[in-house]
Amino acid sequence: MRPPVPSSQDLATLIRAGTPLLVIESTDEKRVLEGFRHAIAQALRPLWSWSITDGLVRLDMDAEEADTPPDATLTLHAIKAATEPGVYLLLDFQGYLRYPMTLRLVREIVQRHGSAEHVLVLVGASIELPDELAGTATRFEFALPDAEALAALVREEAYLYSRGHLERRVRVDPEAARAVVRNLSGLTLQDARRILRKLIADDGALTAADLPELARAKAELLDRDGLLHFEYDTARFSDVAGLARLKQWIALRRPAFLGEPLPARLDPPRGVLLLGVQGCGKSLAAKATAGGFGVPLLRLDMGSLYNKYHGETERNLREALRRAELLAPCVLWIDEIEKALAGGSGDDGVSRRVMGYLLTWMAERRAPVFLVATANDVTALPAELLRKGRFDEIFFVDLPDAATRAAIFRLHLARRELDPAACDLDALAAATDGFSGAEIEQVVVAALYAALASRGTPGQAELLAEARNTRPLSVLMGERVQALRDWARPRTLPAD
Ligand SMILES: Nc1ncnc2c1ncn2[C@@H]1O[C@H](COP(=O)(O)OP(=O)(O)O)[C@@H](O)[C@H]1O
Ligand SMILES: [Mg+2]
Repeated sequence: MRPPVPSSQDLATLIRAGTPLLVIESTDEKRVLEGFRHAIAQALRPLWSWSITDGLVRLDMDAEEADTPPDATLTLHAIKAATEPGVYLLLDFQGYLRYPMTLRLVREIVQRHGSAEHVLVLVGASIELPDELAGTATRFEFALPDAEALAALVREEAYLYSRGHLERRVRVDPEAARAVVRNLSGLTLQDARRILRKLIADDGALTAADLPELARAKAELLDRDGLLHFEYDTARFSDVAGLARLKQWIALRRPAFLGEPLPARLDPPRGVLLLGVQGCGKSLAAKATAGGFGVPLLRLDMGSLYNKYHGETERNLREALRRAELLAPCVLWIDEIEKALAGGSGDDGVSRRVMGYLLTWMAERRAPVFLVATANDVTALPAELLRKGRFDEIFFVDLPDAATRAAIFRLHLARRELDPAACDLDALAAATDGFSGAEIEQVVVAALYAALASRGTPGQAELLAEARNTRPLSVLMGERVQALRDWARPRTLPAD
């Protein structure tokens, strides 16, 4: 897999330097054309674009019309024969490179066999080059707008709005504007503009009240292809009973994660693996980690990486991780990581490569993206993932002890507007030995339903009755839970 391309290279410089073949993976054609118009103004070359529907069209001048039909081969012949060195954007040309004639012509133009110093630019969503071209191509990515560019965008959109509304001034709260700029980072200029326009248009103002709408709009953008989900519902550590050691571990590292300078001998925190018994709060703790750090929570759905409708698996992973870095600081959550890495898709070549890319990324990422992975089944995890140094720490989330069970009862009773003080929490804890947090929550919910039938409020007796009716998973799957504990004890840190 290719490493991400630096985005700082200047397009005009590349053109002036005589780069023969550029590759731009982007679906934002408008942005690409705009970028080239700019670059051309400095590099002073004719700029053409080609698509199978429109054929060759000159972009930097209205006058000139090419009289070549759209056919790919004829177009390449025409480019080859053109005497003035030009820049040619070939939109969605990828498919034509499979034909020997097309490929040969591209090579001849790129190698400048008796033709002018043209620049060919392949533009498309996903471009894999044949070996014949790979060596001569330069990949280019447009940089996303930085904070300064986004602040300028805010001013521009405010101006455009007031000009369109009888000079009505847009009320811009400076504090909110700064928050908006922060939250727009990671988006393309086009997307940022679309969102911003909507935020201003609904009430002619940009205030703190727009922030939830901004989060929603951004989440929608991120969810476009279902790879990376923006989770609205982070949790607070106070929503999680027990797991004291994990909570403290996170709290200690919060300042460092948020960028406070560290002594040279310390690395910034990078991520944890939460391993343990189902229903004991791993997913909840992942959410609470984002809440504890006070940063957005992004969930990477490994299953959807393999969805063939989303294209190539590794590209999906690379794209998802790149986006997560753009949204840093953030927590990236991979739930039940074993499911994606066990190669359930039947193609273990792919899952091994996915795994390899993830491990490389974990080692090399620079942006503050804190990875929280959870797993129920350690036997399905590849050994490389568990090796020392991959994660900062592997925590074992075991069944809750009596004190934690009491605390879980307290939380879930209160959440459903029942008074914990009216119950004997210790007795409830004693009656639920071997229960997971999820099962305790179910006891509370079931008691509420039972009471609904008799129009009453559930009390101690109803809760105890429901507890007696429950066969916890740890009993049904006692051996597996024990095996997991035996494995975990010497290798992991207890989360509680
Ligand atoms: N330690 C806990 N404190 C509070 N609630 C818990 C705890 N453990 C589990 N629960 C409850 O059970 C639900 C399911 O737990 P979850 O985090 O999905 O478990 P896991 O991911 O380990 O399978 C949680 O949403 C929460 O309501
Ligand atoms: Mg879970």
